[in-house]
Amino acid sequence: MKPFVICHMLGSVDGRIKQDIWGFKDHHKYFEETAAKIEADAWLVGRVTMQEFSSKEEHDLSLFPNVIAKEDFVADQPAKVYAVVIDPSGKCFWDTNMVSTEHVIEVLTEQVSSAYLEHLHSKNVSYIFGGEKELDLDLVLQKLYQLFGIKVVRIDGGGHVNGSFLNAGLIDEFSLVLAPVADGTIGSPTVFEAVEGYENRKATQFKIKSADRIYDDFLWIRYKVLKDLEVAR
Ligand SMILES: NC(=O)c1ccc[n+]([C@@H]2O[C@H](COP(=O)([O-])OP(=O)(O)OC[C@H]3O[C@@H](n4cnc5c(N)ncnc54)[C@H](OP(=O)(O)O)[C@@H]3O)[C@@H](O)[C@H]2O)c1
Repeated sequence: MKPFVICHMLGSVDGRIKQDIWGFKDHHKYFEETAAKIEADAWLVGRVTMQEFSSKEEHDLSLFPNVIAKEDFVADQPAKVYAVVIDPSGKCFWDTNMVSTEHVIEVLTEQVSSAYLEHLHSKNVSYIFGGEKELDLDLVLQKLYQLFGIKVVRIDGGGHVNGSFLNAGLIDEFSLVLAPVADGTIGSPTVFEAVEGYENRKATQFKIKSADRIYDDFLWIRYKVLKDLEVAR
């Protein structure tokens, strides 16, 4: 069993996701107010996005000399909603095991050091292993379901993490808040950053579930992601 996966993003009309030049006064609300309307047991982000929320302090790993087994760790803590980060080599550091009201779960590979695991233990941060060197995202979802009871997960970006889950065929629904701006920055991350070049693959197809005009000039479009057998165009 694994969770139902909804990817939620705020994008410009050209699919860009960094809002540096968009000029909105209260730019967080367009993402957050819509996200809050999607019921989920967890939100999940990539390492780059999570570093906007994790510790800004220097953490000295030489203070942690013990050998910790590379086994999943489910912290004893009361929260029932989770903040999950795909952090294969353990680059996020923590002052607490919470982001706002959500308990942090680190998704790691076995490449992380024992000292880093001891850092996570010292803050009572949960962690799971998704592979030895590379992450198996299907396995990661299964563990989130089995170990934490996560039945619906909202993937909140950035583009690389969205692209990884899309490429693995693991997104069930895509929720796009389309901002009324053209960004045009070449090389800036887009909603889905998956593969370089076209190779022999096909684009992922969607079917509209709903489309609403919000905040005057924004659109909130919710799509079902079509699996191979459902594509009949
Ligand atoms: N507009 C929006 O709705 C929205 C939402 C969220 C974020 N953002 C913005 O998006 C930007 C960040 O996006 P991004 O695409 O650069 O980064 P990202 O997706 O947040 O993080 C990418 C990193 O996550 C790890 N990762 C992701 N998938 C992986 C996989 N399958 N296997 C192993 N590691 C994986 C890697 O970490 P390592 O490099 O450590 O290996 C990778 O470099 C930020 O500016 C943020 O503010 C916008």
